[in-house]
Amino acid sequence: MTTASSADHPTRRDFLYVATGAVAAVGAAATVWPLVSQMNPDASTIAAGAPIEVDLTPIAEGQDIKVFWRGKPIYISHRTKKQIEEARKVPVASLPDPQSDESRVKAGHDQWLVVVGICTHLGCIPIAHEGAYDGFFCPCHGSVYDTSGRIRQGPAPSNLPVPPYTFVSDTKIQIG
Ligand code: FES
Repeated sequence: MTTASSADHPTRRDFLYVATGAVAAVGAAATVWPLVSQMNPDASTIAAGAPIEVDLTPIAEGQDIKVFWRGKPIYISHRTKKQIEEARKVPVASLPDPQSDESRVKAGHDQWLVVVGICTHLGCIPIAHEGAYDGFFCPCHGSVYDTSGRIRQGPAPSNLPVPPYTFVSDTKIQIG
């Protein structure tokens, strides 16, 4: 008969069952991990410039993520309709480094902006969703970039560069 006290307090045998199960689960994970790991480029290959794939599914509209490619921070922004409209309504000729928003994104994937997150002034890392244009703000000397990553104010001479990338599916890009 099971008493209240033995139900509340696992016996040594219960503990051994739980411990054995946990070891088996860890063992299975350890077996799978090398297989998965072998399919990815190793850290030195990535550092040397191997392309990286990024799944866009978890990035909600209005959010940005930062990944690293060739040791550089890359911002991936899932832009809202309003952010796209703001980027497109400005006369291109009035910009310090004139580039249309359309030329900085992939056709049919206009909601995605992919830029190198290094300020073109002296190389600080700008902050996303900051500044007067809801794009990027560099705290070092006050450069302000818009929702297309184009320089709008401050000492930076040019837009945030767009790295080479392609859409391998509707929800995945390959950078590099
Ligand atoms: S490094 Fe960004 S404004 Fe100077």
